[in-house]
Amino acid sequence: MQQALYHPEHGYYSSGRCVIGRKGDYFTNVSVGPLFGQLLAAQFTEIWERLGRPDHFAIVEQGAHDGQFARDVLESSQKRSPEFFEALRYRIVEPFPILQERQARTLDSFREKIEWCDSLQPFVGVHFSNELLDAMPVRLIGGDVEKLVDLKGDKFVFVDRPGHDDANFNQAALDWIDSVAVNLQRGYVITIDYWRSGGEFHEKIQVRAQHRNLDSPFEEIGHADITMGLCWPSIVERAQANRLHVAGFTDQHHFLTGIISESPDLTPESGAKIKRELQTLLHPEMLGRAFQVLALSKNVDFAAPKLVGFKFAGEPDTALALIDPSR
Ligand SMILES: C[S@@+](CC[C@H](N)C(=O)[O-])C[C@H]1O[C@@H](n2cnc3c(N)ncnc32)[C@H](O)[C@@H]1O
Repeated sequence: MQQALYHPEHGYYSSGRCVIGRKGDYFTNVSVGPLFGQLLAAQFTEIWERLGRPDHFAIVEQGAHDGQFARDVLESSQKRSPEFFEALRYRIVEPFPILQERQARTLDSFREKIEWCDSLQPFVGVHFSNELLDAMPVRLIGGDVEKLVDLKGDKFVFVDRPGHDDANFNQAALDWIDSVAVNLQRGYVITIDYWRSGGEFHEKIQVRAQHRNLDSPFEEIGHADITMGLCWPSIVERAQANRLHVAGFTDQHHFLTGIISESPDLTPESGAKIKRELQTLLHPEMLGRAFQVLALSKNVDFAAPKLVGFKFAGEPDTALALIDPSR
């Protein structure tokens, strides 16, 4: 997964070959249209208010692809919350130069607001990611066996090897949590992704190209996306071990419905286009149930009311217990 997605020359992401949206390999919340960014901008504004309207507030995005989400958020904030926009700095963590160039083109009109870095730096504000963690490399560890990749003739194959008790299948995601926890000085982390339901690990790898699911990660290497659904409970456990507080966990349907309920100006009588976007993002059989939203906080009053996105959500522990893949 590391090589297929991130090899400097041949990787699906690092080479810039990845295309998201109708003409690409798959859809994401961002590619559905600007409404997703507009709704998240409303949530970010509330967070800024929650932190006492600081003069310098960072939105840190990781996995920003071509910068579309950043543009949707900045355009919406400029229009709807000028004071928030004034305080805002948008920081994109982007290790790949080809993607940085694309983001710079998309965000040309917001040049003054944006900065890039190739790893996380200390910040006050909110860290946001959509489908970042599912694109992080995993190890296929199940029971006491690990699946490794071998070469048979000129073909890649999986081979079973004895596993190590202390290895984590999602070490990259856990390392990411450690790094976010160290760099977040005050504020929130909001991460949206999909979870891994039961079954054997290697059956759960998703490989997608041109809106088709491929049978194996060894097909179209470097031209196909490879993802693995998250084990949310392990992410939450690691976050708590890092003294991050779980400020909410729910499905995307409930999260966005909460924001919409407090932002009537974002979904006025609405034309056909907005209706379509809303339906795709919210419908339980489309993206509404497929994706979950985790919010973490640090150095924010624990007793503060729920963020608007979690207004209709139940207790995070109950929601997490329901999706624990080990049950
Ligand atoms: C599935 S895409 C999601 C793109 C976008 N967020 C969206 O929703 O349309 C995953 C993105 O995460 C990026 N990524 C993976 N690991 C990263 C890391 N450590 N730092 C920054 N970006 C990373 C990949 O390059 C890719 O652009």
